[in-house]
Amino acid sequence: MKYFSAFILLAVISYTGSQIIKQELHDDSFKAETNDLRIQGGEKTTIKKFPYMISVHTTNGLRGAAVIINKYWGLTAGIIFYRYMNGTLTFRAGSTQQNRGKILKVDKYFDHPKYSGGWTDDLTIFKFTKPIKISNTMKPISIASSLPKNGTMVTVSGWGDEEWMKENSGTTQLKAVKVKYVHSKTCQPLYQDDIDDGNFCSLTPGRSPCAFDWGAPVMHQQKLIGIYVGGEDCGSITKPPLYLDLTRYRQWILDTIRKNSKSYEIDEINIE
Ligand SMILES: *[C@@H]1O[C@H](CO)[C@@H](O)[C@H](O)[C@H]1NC(C)=O
Ligand SMILES: *[C@@H]1O[C@H](CO)[C@@H](O)[C@H](O)[C@H]1NC(C)=O
Repeated sequence: MKYFSAFILLAVISYTGSQIIKQELHDDSFKAETNDLRIQGGEKTTIKKFPYMISVHTTNGLRGAAVIINKYWGLTAGIIFYRYMNGTLTFRAGSTQQNRGKILKVDKYFDHPKYSGGWTDDLTIFKFTKPIKISNTMKPISIASSLPKNGTMVTVSGWGDEEWMKENSGTTQLKAVKVKYVHSKTCQPLYQDDIDDGNFCSLTPGRSPCAFDWGAPVMHQQKLIGIYVGGEDCGSITKPPLYLDLTRYRQWILDTIRKNSKSYEIDEINIE
């Protein structure tokens, strides 16, 4: 199976040298990615428009994105914590530039119990050591309780890589792109059993989140509807980008937060 997925790509980068990466680039499965590894077709934007964004790094550079959902908690794709050991991740928020944000320390995380490294149930929530200080560059976004109508344009924001294999590109500015949200039922035949009702996709040729946008938020009407989890290609309509539908995971998220918060924290968060 030739998956262009968060899992395989991160595995390749982590465990093989750049020689092998260069060979992989000549394979068909990677061809589309050689053109543009960033959010495709998007525009540069600022953190004030997306103040809930967190960039996730290891010592090797950017790994993905995460989202502030309240002053104590964030969420991201399962792959992020699955792939990297405790202590090796750095979370930054409050800056348009991926590596200039304030570091947010994380002391607990909870993978979705059904997550197993693929695209289904690809979700982790995590708790900050200290509550974040809310400002116009650092602010939570709430999770939507329902999805928009099929075909609605939604917004994805992320940093991605400037270029393939060029990590730690310190001045990388946040980008955002509008993509067409498409119902899970339409995407499932394109990926068969690799996705389920908890995934949706977007069908907008040449516009897409891409490598190292794992965990990037999908927004509609000021609410979070999903996160980017991968796919076999970027900006393709035959192998479209895949997301996790957070409206379906909302209850698990709220239950997990409740179980793992002090009562005064719950009062402050004001979750319903
Ligand atoms: C990482 O490990 C330390 C020490 O064992 C622990 O206190 C902390 O809660 C862990 N953090 C996460 C995110 O698991
Ligand atoms: C959703 O919209 C897409 C693209 O506009 C279309 O191809 C598809 O048939 C629609 N699916 C459903 C379930 O309505």
